[in-house]
Amino acid sequence: MNLLSAKNLSHSFEYELFSNVSLSLDAKESIAIIGMSGSGKSTLLHLLSTLLTPKSGEIELFNENIAQMSKKELALVKRDKLGIVFQSHYLFKGFTAQENLEVSEILSQKSIDNTLLNKLEIAQCMHQKVTELSGGQQQRVSIARVLTKKPSIIFADEPTGNLDNQTASEVMKLFFEYCEQNNAGMILVTHDNTLAHMCKRVYKLENKALKLIK
Ligand SMILES: Nc1ncnc2c1ncn2[C@@H]1O[C@H](COP(=O)(O)OP(=O)(O)O)[C@@H](O)[C@H]1O
Ligand SMILES: [Mg+2]
Repeated sequence: MNLLSAKNLSHSFEYELFSNVSLSLDAKESIAIIGMSGSGKSTLLHLLSTLLTPKSGEIELFNENIAQMSKKELALVKRDKLGIVFQSHYLFKGFTAQENLEVSEILSQKSIDNTLLNKLEIAQCMHQKVTELSGGQQQRVSIARVLTKKPSIIFADEPTGNLDNQTASEVMKLFFEYCEQNNAGMILVTHDNTLAHMCKRVYKLENKALKLIK
């Protein structure tokens, strides 16, 4: 089952970042994108997750060209099927961790999975204000928030940046397990080669092109 297919994408801001980028993601698959800082990894992830429109090229999500979807259709796909984990997590600061997840519950009409909170080791801190949590705890709350809505595709930009190596690799395993159990797929941007190689395929963004290296 194909979740995402991108053909000949190019994008530029002041200068061309990359061109002719193609990739495809099936259910239960994971893809890592590595590359030097400034090579355009985050920009590529923003294109694939519909946050930015490519200068040229086509993106299909669930076998439908996103350029041909209405604004409303696209908003629903984004709300119900795409889970985006940002480098800097945008949790609601005045709220508790629990309240942040409840927002996700309401929007997606799906319920918080307590097993998930235990696996992420945040079950004990759910009633604390976000601002009282460590960076690593906040990152895990933001991961729980995204998984609560049960997305079909997880887009993750350095999702383990604030975590120590062991926690990072446990979080990666959790993502893989999630994809396996929910017929979902993941596209991960990271500068960490070890984490990247845990994914099924690894691409490198270099010299304005995306190369398959594993
Ligand atoms: N919204 C934007 N406007 C102008 N330039 C941008 C914008 N977003 C990113 N860039 C530039 O594009 C280049 C690639 O950025 P980015 O995709 O964040 O790279 P990476 O994630 O690989 O570090 C950088 O030089 C960055 O300054
Ligand atoms: Mg980046």
